[in-house]
Amino acid sequence: MDQLVDDLQTETTTVRTMLGSDLDAVVHIDSEASGRRRPRYFELMLQRALQFAGLQVSLVAIVDGALAGYLIASLYYGEYGITEPSASIDAIGVAAHVRRQRVGHSLLQQLRSNLAAIGVTTIRTEVDWDDFDLLPFFSSEGFAPSKRICLELECRDNVRTR
Ligand SMILES: CC(C)(COP(=O)(O)OP(=O)(O)OC[C@H]1O[C@@H](n2cnc3c(N)ncnc32)[C@H](O)[C@@H]1OP(=O)(O)O)[C@@H](O)C(=O)NCCC(=O)NCCS
Repeated sequence: MDQLVDDLQTETTTVRTMLGSDLDAVVHIDSEASGRRRPRYFELMLQRALQFAGLQVSLVAIVDGALAGYLIASLYYGEYGITEPSASIDAIGVAAHVRRQRVGHSLLQQLRSNLAAIGVTTIRTEVDWDDFDLLPFFSSEGFAPSKRICLELECRDNVRTR
């Protein structure tokens, strides 16, 4: 599998490509934020990110020798009517004890630099409108509402709408 080698090192934070062996630490950080352990969810997301993507773009941040943040991203080539190569951030999390120390910023900066190197011009993500951690973070990183809107349908009741 190809790997992006242009990893970032700042004074306190090192960012490197995510490995399968990072799973436990990623699950732990997510459980701090979500309040529940979701190993299967992350295992599947990691498997997809590590095995099926032509190019591995997911990253982890190391602070004081320990995994302190993760960013899981996918590449898209022409899917969903989007013609230019683009990327989506599927999940991002920073360990509670190092939040607001630019770890998330370092992850995003490294992602942007790696994606620019392979010609990806747009990064998309979805955030709950009332997520007051992620929204200001993405806003401060330069993200803005997209022209594309997200639609959803509750298919539980199998009700015809027309
Ligand atoms: C959101 C998150 C990824 C940000 O990572 P971080 O390393 O703490 O963020 P940074 O220090 O890089 O922040 C960069 C800028 O974003 C903004 N920002 C980040 N978190 C913020 C918050 N909670 N409130 C307001 N602004 C915030 C600030 O402008 C900040 O710059 P500043 O600290 O100089 O003011 C992290 O707080 C987190 O993991 N939160 C939980 C997320 C979650 O619930 N994930 C579920 C799985 S998807």
